[in-house]
Amino acid sequence: MTGAVRLEPVDERNLEPLLSVAVAEAEPADVMPPVAAPAGWSHARREAFRQFHRASFGGLDGPGSTQMYVILASGEVVGMIRMTRSGEPGTVETGMWLGRSARGQGLGPAALRQLLDFAAAAGMQRVVAETTPDNRGAVSVLRKCGAELREADGKVRAEICLDDPPPAL
Ligand SMILES: CC(C)(COP(=O)(O)OP(=O)(O)OC[C@H]1O[C@@H](n2cnc3c(N)ncnc32)[C@H](O)[C@@H]1OP(=O)(O)O)[C@@H](O)C(=O)NCCC(=O)NCCS
Repeated sequence: MTGAVRLEPVDERNLEPLLSVAVAEAEPADVMPPVAAPAGWSHARREAFRQFHRASFGGLDGPGSTQMYVILASGEVVGMIRMTRSGEPGTVETGMWLGRSARGQGLGPAALRQLLDFAAAAGMQRVVAETTPDNRGAVSVLRKCGAELREADGKVRAEICLDDPPPAL
């Protein structure tokens, strides 16, 4: 796996494989919003993971205003990337995660580059993201994809203008 990925909309067919990767190779806090449930990948948290993803099946124009994609490498589900309409016209916010064994191989930047193409095709002008300064992986991916980064109040805010030419690979 050297940075070659394919994105597919999250649907009922790939939701269980995505959950399996999350359970085996990620922390709940990295892949879904907090829920009141016993710690770890309890039954209640797995069900909340399914519902969280199903709420976005309507895509950018659905009630969740979010399009989620599974990230596939060599045909295997390895993580998820999403875009969500922000309050600003022409702007989506992005977030992503990969299973631990898929990190550090350039798959994150490859997935984000594809998401930027999908966002542009959906008529967006800007993609934004928010992370924390200690998340070196996320900061590195955003920088590699040409984001302008601003740090304030313990957060890193990233902005990618889709009119700008992407940085060379
Ligand atoms: C953030 C994330 C998607 C990055 O994707 P990636 O494919 O690992 O990105 P890269 O391969 O370009 O590596 C990025 C950085 O991760 C670090 N890294 C290297 N190997 C790693 C590993 N095995 N595990 C974690 N990070 C690693 C390196 O510092 C690398 O930086 P560099 O290339 O500038 O030296 C991934 O680390 C992840 O899923 N993290 C958990 C969820 C998360 O934090 N999501 C972002 C929320 S804002």
